[in-house]
This record gives sequence, C-alpha cells and structure tokens, in this order.
Amino acid sequence: MKTVIKNISELIQTETNPKKWIAGKEMSKISTIKEAFLEYEDGIITAFGSMGQWKGIEDWNNTDIIDAEGGMVFPTYCDSHTHLVFAASREEEFVDRINGLSYEEIAKRGGGILNSAEKLQKSTEEELYESALNRLNNLIKLGTGAIEIKSGYGLTLESELKMLRVIRRLEKNTEVSIKSTFLGAHALPKEYKNNKDGYMDLVINEMLPKVASEGLADYVDIFCEKGYFTIEDTKRLLDSAQKYGIQGKTHVNQFNSMGGVQASIELGALSVDHLEEMKDYDFEALKNSDCMPTILPSCSFFLGIPYGPANKMIEKGLPVALASDYNPGSTPSGNMNFISSLGCIQMKMTPEQVINATTINTAYAMGLEKELGSICVGKKANIFITQDIPSYSYLPYSFGENVINKVILNGKVIV
Ligand code: NIG
Ligand code: FE
Repeated sequence: MKTVIKNISELIQTETNPKKWIAGKEMSKISTIKEAFLEYEDGIITAFGSMGQWKGIEDWNNTDIIDAEGGMVFPTYCDSHTHLVFAASREEEFVDRINGLSYEEIAKRGGGILNSAEKLQKSTEEELYESALNRLNNLIKLGTGAIEIKSGYGLTLESELKMLRVIRRLEKNTEVSIKSTFLGAHALPKEYKNNKDGYMDLVINEMLPKVASEGLADYVDIFCEKGYFTIEDTKRLLDSAQKYGIQGKTHVNQFNSMGGVQASIELGALSVDHLEEMKDYDFEALKNSDCMPTILPSCSFFLGIPYGPANKMIEKGLPVALASDYNPGSTPSGNMNFISSLGCIQMKMTPEQVINATTINTAYAMGLEKELGSICVGKKANIFITQDIPSYSYLPYSFGENVINKVILNGKVIV
C-alpha cells in the first residue's frame, strides 16, 4: 500500500544523486524542499517533491495519507557506534570522577569495562535482550532508525557470543536497521592480566572463527589505547578478520594518538572512532582513504575530555561522522538530538554539517549509505516528523527537548 505524507513544512536532506558520503565544504550544505510531500510503498521511498508537484491521489483505496501538519520531515539518525547491550549502569564511577578520579584511574582499580564485564557474564541472554530492547525502543522515540551495536563486555568466548546473539535478536525483532560488531578486544580480563598475547590468541584463534562461522558480526573492533591494546594487536586482529571478510571499525585516539588511525586505515577499516586526540599524521592518514572519521561528542561531554576536531577535518576536505557511543561507562545516553546540539554548541559545527554528520556519513560508517541516510527514491522510508518548528536549526538549538512527533521505520509508524 502506498503512503503519502502531506503538508511537510520542510523536507530535510533530500538527495537525487545518491552520494557515498559528504566531505569538506560540501558538509555545509543540505538540500531541502519547502511545503513538500513524501511518498513511499512497501517501506521504500517512491517519490517526493513540493506539494504543488504532488499529483494527488490516484487510488483512494490503496493510499494512506499522513498529515505532517506543518512539521518537518528528516531521515532518521544513523548511530554508527554504540555499546547498547550491557547489564548494569555505572553511576558509582560517575561519582568517583566527580570526586577527582580519572577514567583511566577507575579502570586501573578494576572499574570500567571490567566492572561491566563481571556483571554481564552473570546475566542471562534473556535479561540482556530485554534491557537492550527497552533502550532501543527509547532511542527510536528520539529519532534513531539505524544503529551499530558492539559486543565487548563479555570478554569470554561464551559471553561475547551471548552479546552478539542478543544483537542479532534485536535486528530480527525490531524495525531498526542494525549492524553488529565483535569487540572481544575491549579490555584485558583479570585472568589475563600478565598475558595479553594469550588473550589476543583467544580473541583471534577461538572467538573470531566462532563469531564468523555463526555469522554473528558485520565488523570487528579493538580498543587501541595505552593500557588496553597496542598497534601490533590492532594490526593482528584486523588482518585476521579480513580473512573472514570482516572489516574493522576501531576505537582509536581517545586519550593518545599512537598510530591507531594509520594502522586501521592500512588494514582497510571502514571507520576510526573517538579521535579526541589528533596529530598531523592522523589527518594525513585519513586523506585519500575510504575510512570515515567518527567523533563521539557525548563521550567528551560526559568524561570532560577534549572534543574531536571536526572543523579541522572539514577544512582539510575530510568527511566527519558523529555517533553516540552509548555505553554505561563513558556515555550513558544514545540521544542523537543531544549529539546534534553538542556538535553545534561545543564543536562549532553548523546545523547543516551536523545533519550530514549524523545521517549520510554515519550511514556510510555502518555500510548502509545505499539504503539510508537521506530522503532519496529507492532508500528506506526511515523518517521522523517533527512538531511545527520554525526551522531545522531549531532541532539542535532546543537542546534537551524532543521535538519529534512521529517515527516511521520501513514505512511503518512506530511512534
Ligand atoms: O567507547 N573507550 C572504550 N570503550 C567505550 C567505553 C567503555 C566503558 O567505559 O564501558 C567507549 O568510550
Ligand atoms: Fe565506544
């Protein structure tokens, strides 16, 4: 059945020639249509244009009409970096940080990722599924229509598989487009405290083959950082994953620039994520690559660490993606509206740059740019309708508010 959304005050991020990503100066522009309509059928966008161009209804019996009532229509957000599956919150560490401890100091005391792993190992798949589904349903209300979710709080073969199976179940049972990433190399479990090579052997020789044979991961990730995993570990993992046809999406340059960007790009990573600490050679490595630099502003906000240099990347002609990093330790929120506000307010990106960075560029960073990330004929009808807002800049401006009235995924009204 055809559906037409009419009376859209402005249709945002329209595209006639689909692009793989938006980079450099182009990031400051978006295409929109004022007083518009949008048509879709079987979950796929079939037409859009100005209300004047709308031919009207040919077949009343076979057309649903949704009245946007003067609201705007945006493509849903693509959130290309999250750790949505976890067992428990970690607000005690939040308080420790208020009292002066750093993220690294908390991790050294056995808090951090190991704290989450201990709790996750004791949780059942069912418990993890229910809590993650609940979080995901909340994110849909906030406009997220595609999400990448990582493992990495299991840190044993059994618990990593448990997490990945939860992600696949979410993918099967919801309308959200989901990509799954195997992050076995997230932190060194206690039992391997003095045997990092032993743990990397476990990840590469036991976990990865099982994950690949069960088809549980679309991507592989590693926390390449002082005190976690090295450049050598990163290269070894990405190289092994390539043999299974699994591309990398890595955690690099969160606290230190130590060559993780270069190593990831050399081994064909789709994205490098965090990038709070960037040196000239990191920018150089990104030039002429197919790798999406992805910044996670709410992690910077929550931990009080620097924001990634989005404007410098854009000046150098690079694309930039903004994702949430939703996780219990460094970013207990997956609200992409707030990410948009942080992009504008803290990172001095324009609303247009932020829209490109949270839709088409994050779609690329999860291999979905042909299906999502813009309003384009042939792409999925994953959109949200806002309240009657005065301009699209109002969305990042009205931080902390939710101006979204309706969310439609695969052409189905979800919210
Ligand atoms: O992306 N930095 C590594 N991993 C997560 C945080 C994990 C945690 O603290 O639980 C991140 O920020
Ligand atoms: Fe992360």
